[in-house]
Amino acid sequence: MTTYEEIFERNKQWVSDKKVTDKQFFEKLSEGQNPDFLYIGCSDSRVTAEEMMGVQPGEVFVHRNIANMVNNIDFSSISVISYAITYLKVKHIIVCGHYYCGGVKAAMESKDMGVINPWLRNIRDVYRYHKKELNAITDEEERYKRLVELNVEEQCFNVIKKAVVQKHYLKHGYPTVHGWVFDIKSGRLIDLNIDFLKMLADIQEIYNLGIGEDPHQPDR
Ligand code: CO
Repeated sequence: MTTYEEIFERNKQWVSDKKVTDKQFFEKLSEGQNPDFLYIGCSDSRVTAEEMMGVQPGEVFVHRNIANMVNNIDFSSISVISYAITYLKVKHIIVCGHYYCGGVKAAMESKDMGVINPWLRNIRDVYRYHKKELNAITDEEERYKRLVELNVEEQCFNVIKKAVVQKHYLKHGYPTVHGWVFDIKSGRLIDLNIDFLKMLADIQEIYNLGIGEDPHQPDR
């Protein structure tokens, strides 16, 4: 394990390593960002967005919280998604969950987690929506893994529900939304291949905010 003192030494090494391949690396970074991807993932220390995607600084806009949630009234994720679409014009929005997620695990247990309870309740809601399917899985680990996948799918819905996403997609043809799971045991990224267009159509039946009718409506 790295000690606190070692971090700044490692940072110096990282800077010199980067400069070996590209002398102007940091000067170029300072000029601005133009990422094509917004990644929404879990805060879990084992799930390192850029490293597992093999991307460089500047390539992915990142938002992380416990269990990769996109909560309807969380202005942190709302702001990130709105900024990524409106100003960065990202082409892809990825919600990435991971097997063996502590947040998902906690939401499956009858345990009082104090101040974290309301956050985890959103995952319990996902369990409730899919109770029949989940309760039919007898193997506990398999049920846990399935809830991770269903939670990713539900958070994709929460992204697509947003007016800013619907408006921008219908006008420009992007961004598209993807659901991934990182399998910690193998290191592999799994694309859940969610049907974005079908989800968008389903969403509009209930969450259509009169898009296209009023250009002054708020983007939330
Ligand atoms: Co997690």
